[in-house]
Amino acid sequence: MSDKAQLIIEGKTYEFPTIEGSEKEKAIDINSLRDTTGYITIDSGYKNTGATKSAITFLDGEEGILRYRGYSIEELAEKATFLEVAYLLIYGELPTQVEYEAFEDNIRRHTMVNEDMRKIFEGFPVNAHPMGVLSSLVSAMSAFYPDSYDEKAPDSTELHIIRLLAKLPTIATWSFKKSQGHPVNYPKNELDYCSNFLHMMFALPVEDYKVDPVVSKALNKLLILHADHEQNCSTSTVRLVGSSKANIYSSISAGICALWGPLHGGANQEVIEMLEDIKADGGDVAKYVDMAKNAKTSGFRLFGFGHRVYKNFDPRAKIIKKAADEVLSKLGVNDPVLEIAKGLEEAALHDPYFVSRRLYPNVDFYSGIIYRALGIPTNMFTVMFAIGRLPGWIAQWKEMRTNKEPIGRPRQIYTGATPRDFVPMNER
Ligand code: CMC
Repeated sequence: MSDKAQLIIEGKTYEFPTIEGSEKEKAIDINSLRDTTGYITIDSGYKNTGATKSAITFLDGEEGILRYRGYSIEELAEKATFLEVAYLLIYGELPTQVEYEAFEDNIRRHTMVNEDMRKIFEGFPVNAHPMGVLSSLVSAMSAFYPDSYDEKAPDSTELHIIRLLAKLPTIATWSFKKSQGHPVNYPKNELDYCSNFLHMMFALPVEDYKVDPVVSKALNKLLILHADHEQNCSTSTVRLVGSSKANIYSSISAGICALWGPLHGGANQEVIEMLEDIKADGGDVAKYVDMAKNAKTSGFRLFGFGHRVYKNFDPRAKIIKKAADEVLSKLGVNDPVLEIAKGLEEAALHDPYFVSRRLYPNVDFYSGIIYRALGIPTNMFTVMFAIGRLPGWIAQWKEMRTNKEPIGRPRQIYTGATPRDFVPMNER
């Protein structure tokens, strides 16, 4: 594209090149802005700022499109396994049978976690939030693999990637087991990725546990739907932390912390809690829609609604809503909050407040209902999101390193005091 953007400041005209992506998204390249004009840009929440060029995930918020490496989310969720999608995100292509078996086998052989990590884990209180525990233990992994932060060590990134994918589900299940007062389960490597996670979550030493294929299939789909979502808060955090050359474990741990917030991945826990509150309050959906419309005074938002980028249906929410109906009926679960959720969606979609602001259900709106039907407790919902998002974080971290991106370092407009003399304490 040959167009140039013109900017007139203080009567002087400056020209900046424009860039076009493979899906025709356009950007103004302002790399030289400050050097040539003395100005910077202010863009709170980075609503208009492209932080990077990326070949991993494409999303069109106006059309409700999401693709990983060119493949539609609808097709991947229907036809692929989570590890196939992980491979696709991290290495750029769908694996051949041979590549897939090698990848899966490699992950299986790294599912065990150093026993000393368990000692760290045992120090956490029984009611610690599993997201806090997860981010701490992922950060602690760097201590067990010091070559991850040793600049002189031969590059072992590929092995760290395998370790993260293999061990995150193992660590994630510890918090649940502790909350139940049950012993933790070791991984069973004859099981596939999702079945192994379910085994570690739900098997008890006193009886046989058989993984229900309906449950593992549903989990596989949910993890795929969460696997990447371009430059969201947690992913940008992973890239930003990694840009300082921090090791992969610390970078992913930072991403887990960012995901925990209720405006991001933590929304899935908030949604179920909100639906439970509505149920306990007599199920009056209209009352809560009204409260959300007065968000500024009530301070209440409809969790699971709205998205920074989607101004149309979140394609993941469409798939999850359908899956929620299927999974609950296959498992014979009758969860009254599903009806409340549908009522809330219906009411909101016809309300001018939500219509004019283009607020649609997002990925977190129905996911908790499925997780609950699978037996996963509410405080583990965001952990499930983290397990799903891990391949995306890894792929984005790797891309940022491979492309040798500079350290991320935004600027600011200072609005504080101008120079003044120090006042001794006894004169203040
Ligand atoms: N309920 C009521 N009003 C809302 C909501 C909501 N859930 N979301 C946005 N609005 C209103 C907001 O008050 C504002 O109104 P006004 O123009 O009158 O000031 C307008 O819509 C635009 O909102 P915003 O906060 O400027 O939009 P944003 O792009 O900065 O925020 C969001 C996006 C996802 C943080 C926000 O929609 C939200 O807080 N949603 C609830 C939390 C949630 O479900 N988060 C999960 C997001 S999807 C998965 C993920 O990212 O992890």
